Amino acid sequence: MNPADLPPGPDTPACLDPAVHAALRAEFPLLRSCVYLNNNSTGAVPAGAERVLHDYWDTLRTWRDDAWQDWHVGLDRYADSVAALLGAPPGSVVTDANLSTLLARLASCFDYRPPRDRVVITDLEFPTVPFVFRAFGRYGARLDVVGTGGPDLDQDALQARLDERTLLVCVTHAAFTSGATVDLPRLVEAAHRVGALVVVDAFQTVGVVPLDVTALGVDAVLGGANKWLCGVGTAFLYLRPDLVPHLEPAATGWQAGDRALTFQPSTGWAPGARRFAGGTPYPLTSLVSQVGLDLLAGVGVPAIRRHSLALTQRVLDRAAQAGIAVVSPTAAHRRGGVVFLDVPDGEAVKRRLAAQQLICSWRGHLRVGPHAYNTLDEIDAFMDALGKELGR
Ligand SMILES: Cc1ncc(COP(=O)(O)O)c(C=O)c1O
Repeated sequence: MNPADLPPGPDTPACLDPAVHAALRAEFPLLRSCVYLNNNSTGAVPAGAERVLHDYWDTLRTWRDDAWQDWHVGLDRYADSVAALLGAPPGSVVTDANLSTLLARLASCFDYRPPRDRVVITDLEFPTVPFVFRAFGRYGARLDVVGTGGPDLDQDALQARLDERTLLVCVTHAAFTSGATVDLPRLVEAAHRVGALVVVDAFQTVGVVPLDVTALGVDAVLGGANKWLCGVGTAFLYLRPDLVPHLEPAATGWQAGDRALTFQPSTGWAPGARRFAGGTPYPLTSLVSQVGLDLLAGVGVPAIRRHSLALTQRVLDRAAQAGIAVVSPTAAHRRGGVVFLDVPDGEAVKRRLAAQQLICSWRGHLRVGPHAYNTLDEIDAFMDALGKELGR
């Protein structure tokens, strides 16, 4: 059969329907002033955030303690919207200020008693992951870092390190240094076979790469709002619902207790993922982040993924034409939402492109991260200017 006759799959590049795309794009004022390809670092925030900020100020301006009732509704709504995006049931996601806080809280659930005291990670993790688990070395955690020595993940090497001593395997869904993705179904299967739990740092994928945590059977997933979810200042932790009753965080706070909102001392845990709450929450970031999340959910992550693949494929094609070395894996199913380019003097190039309102980021390599609202024309404008910078 001719591949062109096959129905489009999840990794088939295809731009969004023009009307859907135009409506989405119109929501993001940032796109009127620049070509914004920095979504792997900080996603654009939609105009609807302004109304939320005004409403918040109104609440503060006319303060009554009853405001907390609405704020709790807003916080729960955001957590449940993240859950829905992940294919998870309501009540299985908790939010807090950042991923690091939630990861440390999760890490504080375990005893790290030999023989099952190992935490396996790779050398592609965001620095918070080794930092947190090294700190838990004080309580017996033995960190085992699988080195790839390069931008891509050696999944066979990772899986070969899992055995009956492995308590947790904690990996990034897509590496922040290359965008290389891990094959989660394979990893979950291998980890569960030896009795290890799988914790996924999905900060670099949630919102741009589909993730169905229920179908995957993954144990915990962490991520945040301020990249591909077009929000600000809030992070989340999903926990497999049947695992929750077996986990008791030592790093906790009163909002995790069963009597939190009665202000009585709690003796048990709040239901669901709320047992992973800490102290008084900060509602503003969830309320603002809800706007971007709703827009993305309206489009649907599978369609966003196909659009993203069309844009990153254009980056790859243009890089090949210009002879620019690509660091990221090029196969559609192996790359996340960003393409890393090996550009000489890249940090200065990034600054000169920014002066032309062409916005990307640089972390050792030039990172080009388009999102659902970007266009092929924008990729061409960016790659034209980059080619000129490099004299190609
Ligand atoms: C893969 C990944 N994990 C974690 C983080 C940051 O986590 P935190 O919210 O603790 O700052 C980032 C931020 O860039 C990231 O790319």
